[in-house]
Amino acid sequence: MHDLITSINRLKKERQAIILAHNYEPPEIQDIADITGDSLGLSVDAARLDNPVIVFCGVRFMAESAAILAPEKKVILPRLECGCGLADMADAKALRKMRQEKPEAAVVTYVNSSADVKAESDICCTSGNAVNVVRSIPAEQEIIFVPDRNLGAYVVEQTGRRITLWDGACPIHDAILATDILKAKRAHPEALLIVHPECRPEVTKLADGVCSTGDMFDFVLQSSAKEFIVATEEGMLYPLRKAHPERIFYPVAPNAMICPDMKMISLQDIHNALSNQRPIITVEKEVADRARLALERMLAVPRN
Ligand code: 13P
Repeated sequence: MHDLITSINRLKKERQAIILAHNYEPPEIQDIADITGDSLGLSVDAARLDNPVIVFCGVRFMAESAAILAPEKKVILPRLECGCGLADMADAKALRKMRQEKPEAAVVTYVNSSADVKAESDICCTSGNAVNVVRSIPAEQEIIFVPDRNLGAYVVEQTGRRITLWDGACPIHDAILATDILKAKRAHPEALLIVHPECRPEVTKLADGVCSTGDMFDFVLQSSAKEFIVATEEGMLYPLRKAHPERIFYPVAPNAMICPDMKMISLQDIHNALSNQRPIITVEKEVADRARLALERMLAVPRN
């Protein structure tokens, strides 16, 4: 393991590469990364960094967003199979049809979507800025929100806007029910509840804080509580415990929220990716140019 890490660091230097990792990645991947963060933070980093090579440890839509925002850079996803069940629930053809039925509506697309779907959209959002993105759209304009109905419902609740929700959801977050949360609260009566907005509305309603993975750090920092129940993918417990060793973090239930796609990349995969400079994520220019507009409009809006 030590030799592998040394070799990765040497290759990284030789290639002038930078390793980005999402907060859900396994501990050893987060530890070797130069930057860890949520979807919004990592997209911003991908666009601003000077390194010609980005090794993206996350899932495909995240690496695709980096490739769209930084077309002059080589964006490598160490395992091409890392997908997203939620992103797979929307397709460009069906979205075009929905747009035709509501030609006046603005299409707001969660970044957990394919480049083709982003290309059909007016503006993207992440869980860290969805509320502000929707508020940036003229008050009288109707909105189509794609593809996460739970995040969309949270935005409706926060903004009171007229929004047509696409019928998609993250299989991991959507599987958590209010009964699971109430059980965790009974087991840890002193703990505050932090919930990702991809959870069902009946779950977010029980939360003390509804946060993107990145915003969870600030929520803890600003709270005087000692214990927290964290309703999101379990990988998030590692960076929270690392950042706040004096606090206690509980999953909703052990092994209840694990995204297999976020657990695929190994140190050996990163080594292979740096050594072979593959697999590179590319997006067809015509699609990338349209998707970039939607992503750049999002980046111009402040975080929630
Ligand atoms: P964040 O943007 O909050 O990190 O969420 C990413 C994600 O894919 C949640 O399922």
